[in-house]
Amino acid sequence: MTDNSQKPSAVILGGLNTFSRALASFLVPVDAEPLVSRLRIVDKFSVAPPTTYLGAEFPKTLSNPLVEYRQANLTVPSAVSAALEPADGHEAFDYIFDFTGEIRHDRTEMIQIKTTCHVARLIGLEAAKRKNKAYIRIQLPFYETSSKGTHDEKEDVKPQGVIGTWWHETLRMLAAIPDLNLVILRIGFAYGPYVNIGNITSAITVGAVYGYTKKPMKSMWSPGKNPTHTIHVDDVAGAAWACAQWIGPLGRSAANAAAGEVIPFHNDKNKVKEVEGMPAHNEKLVAPLFNLVDDSNSTLLSVGQTITSYFGTTFEFFNLVESTKLKLADDAVEDINEHHVGGWTEMITSSNPPVPNTPLSAYMDTYALEKHVAAFSNTKIRGITGYQLKYPAFNHATLKEIIDKWKAEGSWPVLE
Ligand SMILES: *[C@@H]1O[C@H](CO)[C@@H](O)[C@H](O)[C@H]1NC(C)=O
Repeated sequence: MTDNSQKPSAVILGGLNTFSRALASFLVPVDAEPLVSRLRIVDKFSVAPPTTYLGAEFPKTLSNPLVEYRQANLTVPSAVSAALEPADGHEAFDYIFDFTGEIRHDRTEMIQIKTTCHVARLIGLEAAKRKNKAYIRIQLPFYETSSKGTHDEKEDVKPQGVIGTWWHETLRMLAAIPDLNLVILRIGFAYGPYVNIGNITSAITVGAVYGYTKKPMKSMWSPGKNPTHTIHVDDVAGAAWACAQWIGPLGRSAANAAAGEVIPFHNDKNKVKEVEGMPAHNEKLVAPLFNLVDDSNSTLLSVGQTITSYFGTTFEFFNLVESTKLKLADDAVEDINEHHVGGWTEMITSSNPPVPNTPLSAYMDTYALEKHVAAFSNTKIRGITGYQLKYPAFNHATLKEIIDKWKAEGSWPVLE
């Protein structure tokens, strides 16, 4: 055994329902030496018994004595303070990974402010006070970018909807905390083993249904470039770690000098007075920011083709008349879903062995059915942190690994 005590210690906050389980298993692997001396994970969910999907790997990580899990309500300031309080006799945690934030696109502005902005700001203030060496904020791709251009971190991209507006505002609030050793990691559409949420997962499940029913999968958003850049969840984990190791010895000022970007205002000026901690519209806020996407240059079409060809069918587009009809019909979403959910139910009920419980659904909500255009360049993170992608391409091999793992844990139908 190597001496773990010299390794950094870390806290992961939130994200059990998104991507933080992958980071936990990366930091404390099941079958290799841990990268950290101690790992604390804090989220609102219970893990025993689980009140959210955990996947087959994460419980093994939790059983390692280096790992401590705490269930806490991070909207409460004292709970945030306790989450970052080191155990008796230990120094402050080195790295803080913030995966918090409300990911449901149908949540109100008030809920977004309370559970996305305020929670992250509480953690940021606490991490600045405790002088933690790194605070890595995971930013999801709730943006509408141009399909042309450089896609680099200097491009001013437009937050999409209520969710995008307040997730983006959260970055400004964090950037405004002067001594916070902040790095913003802005990811593409993430997918991977044990990821049961998001547009790519949804497309995988629905693509399987079209493969099963032997029909083409069709989209309303006619060809043309609709970039939806992708990223594997293990790269979210690896890059978050790389960002922490990068800013650790630098500190915020040097990190700002090396990788700082202006985080522009994209909100209603009147909100500044109403929302605690929201910086004025004209305040110039700078924070280290890195995009993280794979090298696939994924688009709606390429993701659709990769998935459908894996399941033995094709990806097509509705013609103009059909898609106009669909966009106008109130019940189009329900009709589409009836086919998806019916097919998926048939698949899981005829599976051998049976699939009595699955975290996967073929129901596509309006967000999954909307058009998304999010294109980012990954040049900067490679150049500055030296991070190398483990999964540069979204392809049949990455899909197979995901589906094999779901099959092994009994979440995916076995039909042969
Ligand atoms: C978390 O705390 C807030 C503020 O006290 C409260 O409104 C909310 O209901 C709590 N959430 C849970 C799940 O207990």
